Amino acid sequence: METLKIALLGGGTVGSAFYTLVQERLEDFHALGVSPRFLGVLVRTPGKARPIPQEILKTEPFDLLEADVVVEALGGVEAPLRLVLPALEAGIPLITANKALLAEAWERLRPFAEEGLIYHEASVMAGTPALSFLETLRGSELLELHGILNGTTLYILQEMEKGRTYAEALQEAQRLGYAEADPTLDVEGTDAAHKLTLLARLLVDPGFPFAGVEARGITGLTLEALKEAEARGERVRLVASLYGEGGRWQARVAPVRLPQDHPLARARGNALWVRTRPLGEVFVTGPGAGGGATASGLLADLFRLLSGASGHLPAPTPKPPLAEGSPFPQVA
Ligand SMILES: NC(=O)c1ccc[n+]([C@@H]2O[C@H](COP(=O)([O-])OP(=O)(O)OC[C@H]3O[C@@H](n4cnc5c(N)ncnc54)[C@H](OP(=O)(O)O)[C@@H]3O)[C@@H](O)[C@H]2O)c1
Repeated sequence: METLKIALLGGGTVGSAFYTLVQERLEDFHALGVSPRFLGVLVRTPGKARPIPQEILKTEPFDLLEADVVVEALGGVEAPLRLVLPALEAGIPLITANKALLAEAWERLRPFAEEGLIYHEASVMAGTPALSFLETLRGSELLELHGILNGTTLYILQEMEKGRTYAEALQEAQRLGYAEADPTLDVEGTDAAHKLTLLARLLVDPGFPFAGVEARGITGLTLEALKEAEARGERVRLVASLYGEGGRWQARVAPVRLPQDHPLARARGNALWVRTRPLGEVFVTGPGAGGGATASGLLADLFRLLSGASGHLPAPTPKPPLAEGSPFPQVA
């Protein structure tokens, strides 16, 4: 049986869950003819409690060129970029959950993505199929896409619907570990904008710039705005949208009013609703965060790699929109 040498960058929520999941699924690896071995797990603090044996933890970058695959779950942009570039240049595939890295360092990473070396199902909606779901839709043409891509803001809005103010709901999300101590990336819409950028590159334009996404978050939302929406039979959600306008693709993240019976308004987790031709309307929903849920997406990519399939390829060329979209009305 061949050894599969894995270099894991990050042993936090996602990295630890991935390490555990690999141990739980050894039989599946063996059935594929490989035995996984972790060359090392990069962390910052050696003494933290985590389910990873102390002897494979590394606090200094180690030689990734020995690896068969690099799995990145560090977060941030510059530190992971410095680490993964030499490995990619050496032709070693990268599996990552890091949407900020892909959205913001695309100029450097795009050639490797186009070679099929970058697998990133977990970067959008964690283990719930988003990229592979959209890849299947390549058999149709995209008319418009709308998604709930950030679980923290969804939780806050659901709590506000129960009568909590924005500040109370955010505090509760932080207490439960759903929101970071610094929640800016989530509540200002940046995290959803990162993810929307990746979806736009996959479907309509391989060079779609992160700066091309117009993003507005939920920090200014009041309970009154939510109550008014409810009285009109609507629900407020932070929605990431990609649609045609004036002959160009527009990408926008904003709090919008959805009819209460719309699948996106009814979703309890992250969700993607897409209108295509000739297939029609399609919808997928599921968990979009959490260690296990994200590790599931990373493991799916590892199985994809072992089956000989390439990474997630961007759209081959830019495509103009086929139709004008119908974005949902923004909350004033
Ligand atoms: N958490 C989720 O639900 C989720 C869902 C989807 C995608 N993601 C993405 O997955 C990635 C990881 O998220 P996470 O929630 O697992 O974060 P996390 O819990 O903060 O874990 C980050 C890990 O990376 C290590 N680390 C960070 N910077 C480092 C550096 N410069 N040198 C060495 N080690 C470093 C940390 O070390 P220490 O442990 O020593 O601090 C920690 O083990 C992010 O890109 C995130 O956006 C997360």
